[in-house]
Amino acid sequence: MKYVLGIDLGTSGTKTVLFQQDGVGVCSATVEYPMSQPQNGWAEQDPKDWWNAAVSTVKTVLTKSGVDPKDVVSLGISGQMHGLVMLDENGEVLRPSIIWCDQRTQVECDEITEKVGYDNLIRITANPALTGFTLSKIMWVRKHQPEIYAKCRHILLPKDYVRYMLTGDYATEVSDASGMQLLDVPNRCWSDELLQILDIDKSLLAKVYESCEVTGHVSEQAAALTGLTPDTLVVGGAGDNAAAAVGTGVVEDGKAFTTIGTSGVIFAHTDKLSIDPKGRVHTFCCAVPGAWHVMGVTQAAGLSLKWFRDNFCAAEKETAAAMGVDTYELTNQEAAQSPIGANKLIYAPYLMGERTPHLDADCRGIFFGLSAMHQRRDLLRAVMEGVTYSLKDCLGVLNGMGVDPAQMLACGGGGKSPLWRQMLADVFNCPVATTVNTEGPALGVAILAGVGAGLYPSVQEACRAMIHVNAPQNPIEENVPKYAKVYEVFQKIYPANKEVFKELGKI
Ligand code: XUL
Repeated sequence: MKYVLGIDLGTSGTKTVLFQQDGVGVCSATVEYPMSQPQNGWAEQDPKDWWNAAVSTVKTVLTKSGVDPKDVVSLGISGQMHGLVMLDENGEVLRPSIIWCDQRTQVECDEITEKVGYDNLIRITANPALTGFTLSKIMWVRKHQPEIYAKCRHILLPKDYVRYMLTGDYATEVSDASGMQLLDVPNRCWSDELLQILDIDKSLLAKVYESCEVTGHVSEQAAALTGLTPDTLVVGGAGDNAAAAVGTGVVEDGKAFTTIGTSGVIFAHTDKLSIDPKGRVHTFCCAVPGAWHVMGVTQAAGLSLKWFRDNFCAAEKETAAAMGVDTYELTNQEAAQSPIGANKLIYAPYLMGERTPHLDADCRGIFFGLSAMHQRRDLLRAVMEGVTYSLKDCLGVLNGMGVDPAQMLACGGGGKSPLWRQMLADVFNCPVATTVNTEGPALGVAILAGVGAGLYPSVQEACRAMIHVNAPQNPIEENVPKYAKVYEVFQKIYPANKEVFKELGKI
């Protein structure tokens, strides 16, 4: 039996899963790390934490499974997208990584749009300038920390830093590189035109591969640290959403999934390049060679519930620890005791600004309609519902582009909650299903690794063989109009506060 390994470098932690070549999971390990927020709207992580987590989780799955490392033919890495990692000439990290949900770069985004031109930027990168993307972060460091920029010789994305540590290669692949805003997305290569206009040296950027191509192999040094052998091949891998698409079998036209991870995403595969001219959803290269995807993003999806849990659910945490269960099991039970609409309480999940559909770095979260009758259960339910309404906003934009999936697959931590899945089904008014293997991004990159190593002829064929879907949860007819009424009010909350958010930001 041959094995493939998937490393999923997320925002809250890294999860590594060892799979048999037929996609059956053998063993998994997770290590968590912190995110620091030095200022309101900023978000950073230490790349060394990612590397240490990768080493430790790979070592654990190899030891625990007892699998002979020689049989691990290949591995793939899935990563939180957009984060900026800067290395000096010796490959040393120059500053903490500014990650995807950081919102400090609106000024740089305006500068990019002015220099490149809105239409030109959409033509080349398929997206407008966004604070979340890597390019504006590069420009921020160049302006605010010129001494660091002067020393920078390599710019990498989070998962590509771990690849570098694992193989010694400076490499990336099309799905994650699309989110840097330096890639010519229609042609799947760096844009010389953009680099020239913005005066960024191309030699700073890594070599671009397709997601299932082999980029190198594990180095002797990394083999000694992780327990892998230098024969293990490393493939391009993918940005976390493109990886989740492969891991849920969303690799053909007409298929779509939603993730509730730290961020929330509605993702649809497209064989033909399709761009929202207003830039409310992203168009990126997907992990299937020659294809793309469109996706809407809710910045703080699972992040909202985690924020609420960490700040207001000390009692649930204690009880959960005593019972040996996950705190979210208890918060789910509590939320289920509040009725649809959370007793007229609505949560707008803009803790880290918002992308789809508002593209606004200044907005922040709101509990709207708080009353003295509300209890923690109502707030918990409102958080889950608010995230779901925000994902409905994303789906609405995709619907407007002609994407109308007959069924939605759900993944990510939130997708594991039957309550949250029912909310999705009722709010979207569409069946919501899960895959039998719920490893999403880790399975996705393991599949890419299998294709790269020649175990499967194509990503689609590998998915057909490895991905199985459970029976869906259908919308409950009487719930649909109840949620629809609340969603109408939810949609009015952002426009009513748009200007006030800016005032607050200026204080
Ligand atoms: C996608 C995005 C997030 C991150 C973190 O554009 O920013 O989904 O990849 O999960």
